[in-house]
Amino acid sequence: MATNVFARERTAAEALSSRLISYQQAPVGIILGTGLGQWVESLHDFLAIDYKQIPGFPKATVESHVGRFCAGRVRNVPVLALQGRFHLYEGYTPDEVCFGLRTLGLLGVKKIIITNAAGALNPLCQPGEIMVISDQINLTGRNPLVGLNYGEPLFPDMSQLFSPRLAALAHSTALQLGQRLQDGVYIGILGPSLETPAETRMFRRLGADAIGMSTVLETIAAKQMGMEIIGLSCLTNKNLPDCMAPTSLEEIISVGKDISARLSSLLDELIPRI
Ligand code: HPA
Repeated sequence: MATNVFARERTAAEALSSRLISYQQAPVGIILGTGLGQWVESLHDFLAIDYKQIPGFPKATVESHVGRFCAGRVRNVPVLALQGRFHLYEGYTPDEVCFGLRTLGLLGVKKIIITNAAGALNPLCQPGEIMVISDQINLTGRNPLVGLNYGEPLFPDMSQLFSPRLAALAHSTALQLGQRLQDGVYIGILGPSLETPAETRMFRRLGADAIGMSTVLETIAAKQMGMEIIGLSCLTNKNLPDCMAPTSLEEIISVGKDISARLSSLLDELIPRI
């Protein structure tokens, strides 16, 4: 992507701004991952704009991927949502991967919910569960702040990337709904191949509880923009190195869809309390 990516993000935000005026009063931002995008359509005053209609937005390479910038309300709280994201493994640059997140920031988002589908590495976690991300390991070898295009802070502090306040709120909200959330470290890899048993063993030993191919760059960009961050991993499969079962994209998407009903009720209750 050209070096003037920052200007392109401003162009996108300005183009969206005129259509989103009524949603821009302290909006909560949310990124909806693989198979988790449907919830947004239940919002009041729902509005969706295809990424391809937004000037400056990266172009989708995979036609089947839904890519829409959405807005709506949960009990009067304005929400700006990215339905579908760009991944490094599709060949996008870190700037392109973070384009939507940074556009949310320019539109006034200060609190961001980042969701993803992930494989469980912790043997105590089961497919179908939701994990609150307590911390992350960026193993993609990429960083969205490289190039120093984005101003200050150049070296954002990472000692508390995810908000303990939002994590505690998610846990208590879930308990009131009769759900129990897991809690753990997310490791982000480049992909797109899934892990071998030896890699799975290594990632577990590195301290990760869940693994996926997104999120870790967006959180870094969000932190630099000063956002308060909560990450929710929907655990779609279990990776145990000593009895590794094959995993397919179909399985990941289908379990993701099962979890999305629970994720939806959690989001409906969590967002008004944020
Ligand atoms: N590995 C990597 N990414 C994933 C997985 C996995 O097992 N499940 C969902 N996304």
